[in-house]
Amino acid sequence: MDTDVRNILVTSALPYANGPIHIGHLVEYIQTDIWARFQKMRGHRCIYVCADDAHGTPIMLRARQEGIEPEQLIARVAQEHKADFAGFRIGFDNYHSTHSEENRFYANTIYERNRDKGHIVRRTITQAYDPVEKMFLPDRFIKGECPKCGAADQYGDNCEACGASYSPSELKNPVSVVSGATPEQRESEHYFFRLGDFEQMLREWTRGGHLQEEVANKLDEWFEAGLQEWDISRDAPYFGFEIPDHPGKYFYVWLDAPIGYMASFRNLCDRTEGLEFDDFWGPDSTAELYHFIGKDIIYFHALFWPAMLHGADFRTPTAVYAHGFLTVDGQKMSKSRGTFIKARTYLDHLNPEYLRYYFAAKLGAGVEDIDLNLEDFSARVNADLVGKVVNIASRCAGFLRKRFDNRLSSELAEPDLFAGFVEAGAAIAERYERREFSHAVREIMALADRANQYIDERKPWVIAREEGRDRELHQVCSMGINLFRLLIGYLRPILPGTAELSEAFLQVPPLTWEALATPLTDHPIARFKPLLTRVETQQIEAMVAASREDLEATPGRQPAADTPLSREPIADTIEYPDFARVDLRIVRIAAAERVEGADKLLRLTLDLGGETRNVFAGIKSAYDPADLEGRLTVMVANLAPRKMRFGVSEGMVLAAGPGGSDLFLLSPDQGAEPGMRVK
Ligand code: 2FM
Ligand code: ZN
Repeated sequence: MDTDVRNILVTSALPYANGPIHIGHLVEYIQTDIWARFQKMRGHRCIYVCADDAHGTPIMLRARQEGIEPEQLIARVAQEHKADFAGFRIGFDNYHSTHSEENRFYANTIYERNRDKGHIVRRTITQAYDPVEKMFLPDRFIKGECPKCGAADQYGDNCEACGASYSPSELKNPVSVVSGATPEQRESEHYFFRLGDFEQMLREWTRGGHLQEEVANKLDEWFEAGLQEWDISRDAPYFGFEIPDHPGKYFYVWLDAPIGYMASFRNLCDRTEGLEFDDFWGPDSTAELYHFIGKDIIYFHALFWPAMLHGADFRTPTAVYAHGFLTVDGQKMSKSRGTFIKARTYLDHLNPEYLRYYFAAKLGAGVEDIDLNLEDFSARVNADLVGKVVNIASRCAGFLRKRFDNRLSSELAEPDLFAGFVEAGAAIAERYERREFSHAVREIMALADRANQYIDERKPWVIAREEGRDRELHQVCSMGINLFRLLIGYLRPILPGTAELSEAFLQVPPLTWEALATPLTDHPIARFKPLLTRVETQQIEAMVAASREDLEATPGRQPAADTPLSREPIADTIEYPDFARVDLRIVRIAAAERVEGADKLLRLTLDLGGETRNVFAGIKSAYDPADLEGRLTVMVANLAPRKMRFGVSEGMVLAAGPGGSDLFLLSPDQGAEPGMRVK
């Protein structure tokens, strides 16, 4: 083992303070936490900090919507986040906020030092302005028609229909998402960080072993495209820090967000004897600094961040490690499918150790997405953790209690086997170090198989029945417990809760990597209690159902069934932008079936050309389900999902007519295809 104690500072990306933590976020916190716990177990000084990312327009507007001050919103969300993280045993050494005096100090320092070296310039730009809300609008708060393909309801920066990128001023018929008003174009002076000044330094840094190879390759593309100046200011009203000497101008949230890493660390230093800020962030720091992030925020962490730090005479990160996104059952997390699972909802139903283990078993060092397959999840946890690891202890503990007063033998039955397990620890440690957790898990489980095989071969239950073999029984069971101890030690970064229970059972202090090499002999243990129970299918079902229930049910419109359509009055006029927000799509009815217990409904499975939706339609009186399958019709694709008695309806098909058997589903002309937008 490496005997030099390393000084390591580790961070995970800061979650926004306007929403709950969900299992997608947890991939990163669990990944970072495992790595930090591993380093601590190895005897290094490893400090893991994080914070809430508390600034920006969405947080300001969210608070306004709730009728509270942003400070109240972020205080509440901070409590929720901390409780969620604690529930998953994410062992931060400090959890702070970007809305803090430490962060203001370092944001100002970094800004001023870069400004004084000429890396910040002022320019006047024209931007969309909401005349009703009296605020400039971020790109994501403007919608309109795509200037390239005409698709309605597209955000101000890119079109989801044709993939085009553009500036918000190019959108046709733009509307402010905040007020619905038509934005005006107004001028305002902004501050820009001259990223191009750092091109040489960044080219060297990004090829200096600080990034994963695939990330470094991606950066080459960005260098080719040219490093643009970065707008780091925003106009009032804004929830953030005012730029020093420029009242009414604020730092853009992404300027002070990564500085939150420093602020959180500084906050910890101020209450920790012997922890010096400059040792970790000063230009001559020999400490290691690692940022774990999602692949969507590489640009900020691999370009802006090292450049800002360098320009302000702080050290740059040792490495930035990006990971992929989470899918559930092969698809994007979905509220209607109940797979958009909040951390809290998970904790209400399942043990966090399971998810930590499952993610570890899937995580590698690259940026590939990982999939949570719910069936595989329970099968794997049950087979590996309950069936293999915990089983070893439970197979041996009973004999030790009944026959040996819960005391381990003074000699091991097979010192060589024990030594082999200890030796395997070096390769496992290497896997952890390189973030190849799936490999580490595989190697640990191979040892678990070996330990079970040992017990199968020695058959303590047979020895126990035979006269004069007490010593052997004692040694075999003690050997089993010693192998279990090594396995739990190796799994400890992944399963801190189970490790803690195991340490109580083994009556040992928190396991370190070094301590594992010495066997536990002539040592009292506690009475064995189940350390981990099986995942039950019902728990998963309940969690998915509860995640569906998280959706706000919107009241359904009652059809005017008894008024012939021709005599229905035309509804009040709406503005074009309101109409444009309705996303109508051609769909193919892939399946149609009656719904047990429902008088009017058919359950339709609609194919939107790749994506399918479940929709309950009140057309049973007019259609035989068999006649519907395969035909094309039109649906409202962006209607909020509605929870109905029989399930969640994810949209609405369009039909005309007074009702009863007089209902007519709309059909497109020949040539239309599923997924086409109706305009
Ligand atoms: O993408 C996000 O969720 C940001 N809140 C991450 C910030 S990471 C760091 F830079 F603060
Ligand atoms: Zn388009």
